[in-house]
Amino acid sequence: MLSYQHIYHAGCLADVHKHAALSIILSKMVEKDKSIYYMETHAGRGLYDLNSDESQKTGEANAGITKLRNKLPPKHPYTKLLESLPKNIYPGSPLIAHKILRPIDRLFLSELHPQEFSALKNNMGNYSNVFVHDDNGYKKVLALSPPIVRRGLVLIDPSYEVKTEYADAAEFVKKLHKKWPEAVIMLWYPILQSGYHKEMCAILKTAELPKFWQQEVNFKNGGNTLGSGLVICNLPYGTENGLDAAKSIFK
Ligand SMILES: C[S@@+](CC[C@H](N)C(=O)[O-])C[C@H]1O[C@@H](n2cnc3c(N)ncnc32)[C@H](O)[C@@H]1O
Repeated sequence: MLSYQHIYHAGCLADVHKHAALSIILSKMVEKDKSIYYMETHAGRGLYDLNSDESQKTGEANAGITKLRNKLPPKHPYTKLLESLPKNIYPGSPLIAHKILRPIDRLFLSELHPQEFSALKNNMGNYSNVFVHDDNGYKKVLALSPPIVRRGLVLIDPSYEVKTEYADAAEFVKKLHKKWPEAVIMLWYPILQSGYHKEMCAILKTAELPKFWQQEVNFKNGGNTLGSGLVICNLPYGTENGLDAAKSIFK
C-alpha cells in the first residue's frame, strides 16, 4: 500500500525537527577529509514546491517551516541551506544531504512509489555522485551494506502507513548495525496518540547500540501528530549541543 505522498506534509513540524538534526550531523561529518557514503531507505521526491496545491491544501508547511525558519539560530547549517534556495522550494532530506556533502561523497537514494521515484529521478538523478533506486529501501540498503567506504550515514524515514512498520524499522536498524557497525543510523518516528512508537523505542533501547541518542519534541499545534522523535546510533562526537539547541524552537 503506497498512498502516502510527502508533498502534502513537506516542511511540517516533524520535517523541521528531522531536517535540522540531519543538517547538524552531516555538517559535522564533512569536517573530516575522508569520504562518506550516505543512504536513504525512504527518499521521497528530494524537493518540494510549497506553493503547490497539495502543500497549500494541508497548510502543514505554513505551520512548520514558514513559522519556524526565523526561530532557528542564524548560524545553524539548516538555516544557511534554506537561505540558499527560493522561499517556496523546500529541500527534502536528499537535497539537504547533497547540499552539505561533497563531490567525494556518494548518495544512494531508494524510493518505491513510482510517481515519487520519477520526481526523485528528475530532481536528484543528474548529479554524478547520486544514485537513485526504484526499490524497497530496506532491501536495497542491506544489499549495499557494508559499502567499501565505511564512513557513512543511513537515514530511515518511513511513512508509517501500517502499524507493523514501527517494529519493522527497529528490526532493520539492528540488522543494519550488524552488517555495517560503523554507520551512523538515524531513524525518525512520529509520536501519535496511539503510542505505536513505544514498542519500537523499547526494542532499540535494549539492543545495546553504540553511542545511542534519542530526542523527542512535542508540538503545540501538530494536529494528530503530538510530536516527533529521532533515534541515532553512532552519534558523531560534537553534535549533541547543536541538536539540543534546535529543540528549543518547538517550545
Ligand atoms: C516520509 S516520506 C520521505 C521523506 C524524505 N525522507 C524527506 O525527508 O524529504 C516516505 C517515502 O517513502 C516511500 N516509501 C514507502 N515505503 C517504502 C519502501 N519500503 N522503500 C522505499 N520507499 C518507500 C514513500 O513513497 C514516501 O515517498
